[in-house]
Amino acid sequence: MFIRHLSLANFRNYATAEIELKPGVNLLVGPNGQGKTNLVEAIRYISTLASHRVAGYQPLIRKDQGQAIVRALASHQDREVLVELELNRESPNKARVNKSPSPKVRDILGFVNSVTFAPEDLDIVKRDPSNRRAFIDELVVQVWPRFAGVYADFERVLKQRNTLLKTARQTGAKGSALSTLDAWDQSLVSYGSEIVAARIDLIERLRPHLFSAYQSIAIANNEPRILVKSSLMGDAVPSAWSSAGDDDEDGLEYIETGDRAAIEAMYRTKLAAVRPKEMERGITLVGPHRDDLVLMLGDLPAKGYASHGESWSYALALRLASIALLRTETRSGDPVLILDDVFAELDAGRRERLAQMVLENEQVLITAAVADDIPEKLISTVFLVTAGTVVAAGAENSAGAEKAAGDA
Ligand SMILES: Nc1ncnc2c1ncn2[C@@H]1O[C@H](COP(=O)(O)OP(=O)(O)OP(=O)(O)O)[C@@H](O)[C@H]1O
Ligand SMILES: [Mg+2]
Repeated sequence: MFIRHLSLANFRNYATAEIELKPGVNLLVGPNGQGKTNLVEAIRYISTLASHRVAGYQPLIRKDQGQAIVRALASHQDREVLVELELNRESPNKARVNKSPSPKVRDILGFVNSVTFAPEDLDIVKRDPSNRRAFIDELVVQVWPRFAGVYADFERVLKQRNTLLKTARQTGAKGSALSTLDAWDQSLVSYGSEIVAARIDLIERLRPHLFSAYQSIAIANNEPRILVKSSLMGDAVPSAWSSAGDDDEDGLEYIETGDRAAIEAMYRTKLAAVRPKEMERGITLVGPHRDDLVLMLGDLPAKGYASHGESWSYALALRLASIALLRTETRSGDPVLILDDVFAELDAGRRERLAQMVLENEQVLITAAVADDIPEKLISTVFLVTAGTVVAAGAENSAGAEKAAGDA
């Protein structure tokens, strides 16, 4: 798929913008702080409901404004879909697909697909587990959009269960509180196991794509492999765990089975084992919210062992593998590939190899402060971004510029 048209209103530093995008490579050039990342962030947000810069959506709304609007016209092989998203400071967000209101905002997931690679992605390789969980969970939802609901259900149950554990800790565990806890455990195990199984399934499907993406970028024979470390495994009671669960010495063990029933059984057993600790701490100690992925490179984990360049290649390979996976697993085909500020960080060899790989994608958006960093073969459709305005550059794009000006 590709995005034919993007409209923004009061999004980040844009008052309004109307951008006619082309299939193939679209290059967004402009000095620092002008709105290049903001623009691609809008596309990422409307396709995943997540940003690579902030957790919430409030910073996306233009300063002193109450509402931001992002509208994308996506062109799929056989149809066009108009997705509209309204972000409100004070009231619930709203969304529409082809002009009909979506009952839930998350119903828009799956209509516009994109994969973003940005320097922040180095965090997936180098930093704490929450970065890796975010990576895998975003991909799970893109491949199977109904999982957005499963994650929301799991989060809700987790929150309510934690509240109950906290109250039980303060007031002492009584009979009724314990039976309510048992009821929450059922839902926690059911949603949680579905998530654990989906992650394992997805990692298995990602594996061949990750292998070939890494080989193409790094030209190395170290094999990248993803292992899942799970809080459901083993019988150690996690007394040493911090409440964030983001400790390297976490005592977690690898989980191999992707069988849902087997995972549920493990989860139930583990919950029973940690119940006293949970009562003591007032927090849910085991589940997918505590799990981690170990990104292996050859025989060693990338985190703590891989070189800076290897870590970069790994992060990039994760995103390129995601593209390849979405191409084969979803009906939309190629997602939009976004490369935010990436080329400046690569050496000449890797620039050329990346350029060759991205040329195969149906649509690519590349941001750069200077066009000199971009390999020649990627320069065709160019937009100049200055202080929240986007103008098409070059003779072959003058029609786009007029259209954009006319729409504004
Ligand atoms: N909610 C907002 N309201 C108004 N302005 C905002 C908002 N959020 C961000 N900005 C402004 O947007 C600008 C940053 O834009 P952006 O990150 O897109 O820059 P960029 O063109 O990608 O620059 P660089 O080349 O440095 O990456 C900053 O000047 C910031 O103050
Ligand atoms: Mg930027």
